[in-house]
Amino acid sequence: MFTDARGLTLTTSSEAAAGHFSAAIDDYLDYRLSASAKIKMALDEDPDFVLALYFRTCFLQMLETGAVLPKVNAAVGEMKGRLASVTPRERAHVMALEAWAQGDIIGACRLWEDILAEHPLDILALKLHHYLTFWTGRSYAMRGGVARALPAWNADTPGYASIQGMYAFGLEECGEYAAAERWGREAVERNGEDLWAIHAVAHVLEMQGRTAEGVKWLDFSEDRWAGRNPFIGHVWWHGALFNLSQGNYDAALSLYDERMCAVNSKFYVDMQNQVSLLKRLELRGVEVGDRWEALADHGETRIDDHILAFNDVHFCLALAAAGRSDSAQRHISSMAAFGDIDSGWTASTMAATTVPLCQALVAYEAGNYGGTCDILWPLKDDITAIGGSHAQRDMFAQILCDAALRDGRFAMARSLYSERVSLRPSSRMNWQYYADALDGLGEAGAAAAARIQAAAAPEPAA
Ligand SMILES: [Fe+2]
Repeated sequence: MFTDARGLTLTTSSEAAAGHFSAAIDDYLDYRLSASAKIKMALDEDPDFVLALYFRTCFLQMLETGAVLPKVNAAVGEMKGRLASVTPRERAHVMALEAWAQGDIIGACRLWEDILAEHPLDILALKLHHYLTFWTGRSYAMRGGVARALPAWNADTPGYASIQGMYAFGLEECGEYAAAERWGREAVERNGEDLWAIHAVAHVLEMQGRTAEGVKWLDFSEDRWAGRNPFIGHVWWHGALFNLSQGNYDAALSLYDERMCAVNSKFYVDMQNQVSLLKRLELRGVEVGDRWEALADHGETRIDDHILAFNDVHFCLALAAAGRSDSAQRHISSMAAFGDIDSGWTASTMAATTVPLCQALVAYEAGNYGGTCDILWPLKDDITAIGGSHAQRDMFAQILCDAALRDGRFAMARSLYSERVSLRPSSRMNWQYYADALDGLGEAGAAAAARIQAAAAPEPAA
């Protein structure tokens, strides 16, 4: 028996394996590709090290595709055969992974919460809980998971900056922007390598419309983040959003072509980032050429692969945006069937949220803007179950706004843009479209006033 960097017992006969395992956690928290190699080193030292095998299998599961499930289930079976020799904490981790692989995401989160109640320094449980509360859109559960552990930590606890970064992001998703920024910036000061904390601050800047600050915050050279895993593509996505809001469309497209697509990854987060940026560019009238084709080609391979609802929605949008409406419809039918036969979280979102959302997207891409409004208007405040962040889900709000204007539903558009100018008055685009809606209603005076606001808005995007 040895311990990790925070003193938690590890069932392994090898001190070197325990060291490699702790180092792998550190690398994972900083999104370093080297984490996998260190887990392998731990298993080379001690092939019976259950928690190292668990960690390696979590990485596999985090590819979020059904293609990995046979390997994941085989590894879980192997680990379950060794549970008699490990600690209750390690046993609970294995059971959480089993639940996760079965689609029981909530069950997995509850097991990690049980672990954390006993062992609040279990940063692996904390990070995985953070990860899956995020992909189920449960902001308060995400914030609560960190907050419940926080009193057990202090500045001298190894990994403290990561806890601060996670707390910052949980606060941000709960709308506590000032506290989120404070915790996030402190985390980055403590560990400038902590991409999640950098990302948490970027979310605050995005949600508050501080996009000029955002461009500077993420103005890193590409090689600054060499050796990081594909999460770096999501950080570049945030950089592209800031540039978009600043009207720097060429810069956004350069980030897309040169960084977000640089590794030609089919990793699900890369796909989400790329779909989301292309659609936002198009919503601003930017021509994106044939860029949808590669995304749709990959979407064709995921039509029956329902692991995360957030994936499904983005794959479906890629198909529809590329004009492949038949494939998009097959995807929707497959989602509906999955919702009928599976009992996990993702399946539970299908009937009420994911399928209608996808139907709205397909309608939008077909030019059926009225159909888009009919579906999305009543659904607009009830899509968090698909997971992701407020910033990511805002794409659907933007699509509804655009559909309302295009379909001449000016009262709906006025209402939607009233919300947007109230929450993000720094956006020139919001004010301009708000003015268009008011013009549509014949409210020329109010429209003129909105255009004055637009001219004064610090986000210069037209
Ligand atoms: Fe993000």
